[in-house]
Parts: sequence; C-alpha cells; structure tokens
Amino acid sequence: MSLPSPAPEARAVVTGASSGIGEALATELAARGHSLIVVARRGELLEALATTLRTEHGVTVEVRVLDLSDRDARTAFATELSEREISILCNNAGIATFGPVSGLDPAYERDQVELNAVAVHDLTLAVLPGMIARGTGGILITGSAAGNMAIPNNATYAATKAFVNTFSESLRIELKGSGVHVTLLAPGPVRTETPDPADASIVDKLVPDFLWIDSTYTAKLSLDALAKNKMRVVPGLLSKGMSIAGQYSPRSISAPIVGSFYKKLGG
Ligand SMILES: NC(=O)c1ccc[n+]([C@@H]2O[C@H](COP(=O)([O-])OP(=O)(O)OC[C@H]3O[C@@H](n4cnc5c(N)ncnc54)[C@H](OP(=O)(O)O)[C@@H]3O)[C@@H](O)[C@H]2O)c1
Repeated sequence: MSLPSPAPEARAVVTGASSGIGEALATELAARGHSLIVVARRGELLEALATTLRTEHGVTVEVRVLDLSDRDARTAFATELSEREISILCNNAGIATFGPVSGLDPAYERDQVELNAVAVHDLTLAVLPGMIARGTGGILITGSAAGNMAIPNNATYAATKAFVNTFSESLRIELKGSGVHVTLLAPGPVRTETPDPADASIVDKLVPDFLWIDSTYTAKLSLDALAKNKMRVVPGLLSKGMSIAGQYSPRSISAPIVGSFYKKLGG
C-alpha cells in the first residue's frame, strides 16, 4: 500500500512549514501533486511559500497562521481538521531550548511541551478517525535522535521528543492493517540553512560538511518512508550513529557525556 493519491478535496497538512524541514516537506508534497494546508506563526513566509507552490505545481495551498502552543487556537484547528479530508499529516513544528532547565523561562518551557508533544497528540487524534474510516492516510511525526537519550542541558526538548518517538512507533502498530501509515522521522543534525562562518554554532564547527544532510533530502526520504509505512527514518550517517548510541548505550554513561556537549550549546 502507498500513500493516498492527490484528490481535489484532500489536503496534506504540514506544521512548521515556514522554514527548514517543514518547508521542504510542503515543497516535496506539492511536487508530488498534493494540495496543502501549511501552518506556522510567520504568515508572510507561509504566504510566499504558498504562492511559489501554487505557481510551480498547480496545487491548492491554504495558509493557517497559528501558534500551535496555544491550546485554544490549536483546538479550533484540530476541530477543522477532524471535519475535513486530511490525507497526510506531517507533525513537524518544534522548538528547542538549551541550558539547565532551572534557569530557563518556565512559560517558554511549557510552550515547548505544548508544541513539541501535546500538539502532535491533538492533531493526530483529530485526523485519525477520518483516515481510519477512509481506510487510507499517512502521518509523519518529526521526533529526533534526541528522543532516544537523556540529555542534560536539553531536558525539555529531549523529553518531548521521547514522547513523540514512542507515540509514533506505538501508534503505527495499533494501525496495522487499517491502511493508515505512521512513520517517525528521528534525525540527528539536519542543516536547514547555510551557517554564517562568523556566527556558526559549535555543532556547525564540529561536524564536518560531508556528514551533514539537508532538509530537501530529509523530506524526500521521509515521504518515501511514509509511503512504505516504515517505522522510523533516520537520515544520514551522523543521525544513524547518534540513534544507535542513544538507544543502546547505558544512560548512566551516555547522559553526562552528552550533557557536557549540550552545555556548550547554551548552558
Ligand atoms: N534541524 C535539525 O537538526 C533537527 C534535528 C532533529 C529534529 N528536528 C526537528 O525537526 C522539526 C523542524 O525543525 P527545523 O530544524 O526545520 O527548524 P525550524 O527551521 O526552526 O522550523 C521550525 C518550524 O516550526 C514552526 N513553529 C515554531 N513554533 C511554532 C508554534 N508555536 N506554532 C506553530 N509553528 C511553530 C516554525 O515556524 P514559525 O516560527 O513561523 O512559527 C518553523 O516553521 C522540529 O520538530 C525539530 O525538533 C530538527
């Protein structure tokens, strides 16, 4: 079985489509003929993307300017999705914070949980009944290799990604035979824009260029994996290495090592 074919009323939804991996997913879906609903807070970026995709691929693109960490706004959007023909849902929007959680803004940490974990849960549950009734659908969940590990100095992010990693892989088995595909995208570092050498992060400096993968490659690989109902897609050598290390090394050993590296990112 593959993904639902594009149809006039059907929409593929991409959250976090205003930049990075989400923008690449929306672009790849449009190139494959799917009409879209694109979601993020920066409306001007979404409108520019929508204009490009309509012109280049002749698809319909609806823009929803929305803060998905806001429960009321999210509930209204989830209700809309539950009433429409959603063929594909890419739960991709996410943010990360770095440093000891005790020193971070509690409100922003809560927003991170709402966006990275609760919104993924809400939107998935909104589209599931329709997909199951139609006997077809695809749900891509952007987790992270960070969700396989305990990561001091990235605690809220790692915990939210552990939630979505586990949710995705559990749900996929529940839906076996239903025609609804669920795939987890669990990358390590993905280069979403070319770094300014003067402003490069420690990750940019430490990871050699040949080990980086980009958003376009990640999006294509993810949608191909979703079409095949793969459990998890881990793009690139570095991501694969992180994924294996995170899943199979004892946390009492890996957590302090990883934590001291993440401390340099913003601790
Ligand atoms: N790049 C990596 O190395 C990497 C590695 C592992 C996992 N990931 C995951 O991949 C996903 C995409 O990340 P990215 O690297 O492409 O980063 P990005 O370019 O910063 O994209 C994040 C997207 O999320 C949207 N977003 C943020 N807060 C939002 C909110 N409150 N409501 C609605 N939309 C919101 C942003 O749009 P607005 O700002 O316009 O709202 C943007 O479109 C995330 O879930 C991230 O955790 C990334």
